[in-house]
Amino acid sequence: MISFEGYDTVIKKVYQSGNEHVFTFWDDLTIEQKKHLLQELSLINFDEINELYALTKKHIIPMNFEPAPFTRLPQTPEEHKAFEYAKQVGIDTIKKGKVASFVVAGGQGSRLGFDGPKGIFPIGPVSNKTLFQIHAEKIKAYEKKFGIDIPWCIMTSESNHQATVDYFEKHNFFTLNKDKVFIFKQNMIPSLDEQGKLILETPYSIFRNPDGHGGSLTALYTSGTLNKLLTMGIEVLSYFQVDNPLVRIIDPVFIGFHVKHNAEVSSKALQKAYPEEKIGVFVKFSNGRIGVVEYSDLPQEKQYEKDEQGNLRYGAGSIAIHLFNTHFIEKIAQGNISLPFHVAKKSIPQYTNNGKVTITGYKFEKFVFDALPLTEHNFILETKREEEFAPVKNKSGVDSVDTAQELMINLYKKWLLQKNIPVPKVVEKIEISPLYAVEPDDLPDSIAIPQQKEVYLA
Ligand code: UD1
Repeated sequence: MISFEGYDTVIKKVYQSGNEHVFTFWDDLTIEQKKHLLQELSLINFDEINELYALTKKHIIPMNFEPAPFTRLPQTPEEHKAFEYAKQVGIDTIKKGKVASFVVAGGQGSRLGFDGPKGIFPIGPVSNKTLFQIHAEKIKAYEKKFGIDIPWCIMTSESNHQATVDYFEKHNFFTLNKDKVFIFKQNMIPSLDEQGKLILETPYSIFRNPDGHGGSLTALYTSGTLNKLLTMGIEVLSYFQVDNPLVRIIDPVFIGFHVKHNAEVSSKALQKAYPEEKIGVFVKFSNGRIGVVEYSDLPQEKQYEKDEQGNLRYGAGSIAIHLFNTHFIEKIAQGNISLPFHVAKKSIPQYTNNGKVTITGYKFEKFVFDALPLTEHNFILETKREEEFAPVKNKSGVDSVDTAQELMINLYKKWLLQKNIPVPKVVEKIEISPLYAVEPDDLPDSIAIPQQKEVYLA
C-alpha cells in the first residue's frame, strides 16, 4: 500500500474499495501530482460509488404511470379569461421583484462541432448573436418592460466555467447589472468502468462528468446563490436550457398560474411532433405524483400508444422550461434530498500503460425534472411549439442550427403578420432583436421592412 502524509485514511478507502489501480503511475508522479490525485480521491464518497454501480444493474424508473393532466391553451371564453387573470397576477409578481431567471449551461458545444461553452454558439440567423447574448438581451428587455432588475443565475460546469465568466466580462454582461448575474459551477461525479471501478483520465486525475442539470438545485444552494436570491425576496426562479433561443424567459401567464396554484414547480408542455421525438413526457405515477419520463426511458409500446382521438397518449412533451419556488429548492437542498441518478453507457477516455484508450463505461446524471414527484402542488401549462421551442442539439438534421434558425425566422415573420406589417417577398431571413421587441406587442404599429434578403430589426 502506498502512503502519503495526511492522506492515509483516503488511501485506505481506495484500497478497501478495490480501486488501487488509480495508483498505477504513482512512482512516476511529482509531489504536486500525487497531492492532486489524493485531493481528488478525498472528495469521492466510496459508499455512493457502490450505490451508483448498483444502479447499472437495476432499472429505477417507475413504470407504472398514466399521462399527466395539464392546462391546455385557451379555447373557451372562460379559459381566455383565466389566462388573462393569470397574466395580471404574473405581472404583479414580476413587478414586485419576486422573479429571477436561471439557465443551465453546463454543456459544451461539442455536438455542434464547436469548441467552447454551448452558450457562446452563434445562433442569430442574421445577427449571428450567441445564445448567451440573446438570453441576456431578453432579460434586459423584460427589465425595461417591467421596470425592475431581474437577477440571472447561470450554471456552468468545470470544463466551461472560466470561459463563460471571461465571455460575460469581455462583453460587460451585455449591460445587465453584473451584481445580479450569478455564475456558479455544478458538481462533478466520477464515471465508472464496466466493473464499477474508477477511471484514470491522466496519470494523476480521475475521470468525472458534470452531475446533470438535476445537480442545479444543490449547486444553487452550495454556491450561496440561493441564499442571495432569498435575501432579495425572490420567490420564483424561471428555469430554462441554454440551447433554446426561443424560450420566453419571463412569461407573466405562466408565472401567474404558478402563483395561483401555489405550485412548488411548474412546467411547460407541448404536443410531441412525432413519437420518436427526443423530449421527455409528463406522466402521473401510480402514487398520484407527477413526473417526467425521459424519452430514452419510455417503453416503445407507450411511445406509439394512441388515445381514442388518435393522438399520442403520451404526447405532452417537456421542453425543460420550469418555474421553481425558491423555498422548495431550499427545502430540498437543506433536507439533503438527492434527486436520483440516471445511468448512461458511454465511451470514456481512459489513461493506461499504452496511453489514452477509449473504453465503455458508465456516466451518472441527475435530471432536474425528478424534483416534480417531490412536490405537493405543481402545474403544467401547454404552450405553442412555434413560439417557444427551437432546440439547438445537432450540427445538422433534426433539432439543429438550421432548424432552430428557421423557427426563429418563422416566429418573427408571424409577429409581423399579427401586426399587419408586410414582409417583402425578397426577404429571406429576418430577425428581431429582443431589445427591439421581446414580445409581439412591443413592435411598433408600422415599420417599413427594407427590400433586402436579410433584415435585422434592432
Ligand atoms: C433535454 C431533456 C429532455 C427535454 C429536452 C428539450 C434531459 C435529460 N432531457 O434533453 O427531457 O425534452 O432537453 O430540449 O435533460 N446541462 C447542464 N449540466 C449537465 C447536463 C446538461 O447544465 O450536467 C444542460 C445543458 O447545457 C443543456 C441542458 O442541460 O442546456 C440539456 O442537456 P442535454 O444533454 O442537451 O439534454 P437533452 O438530451 O437534449
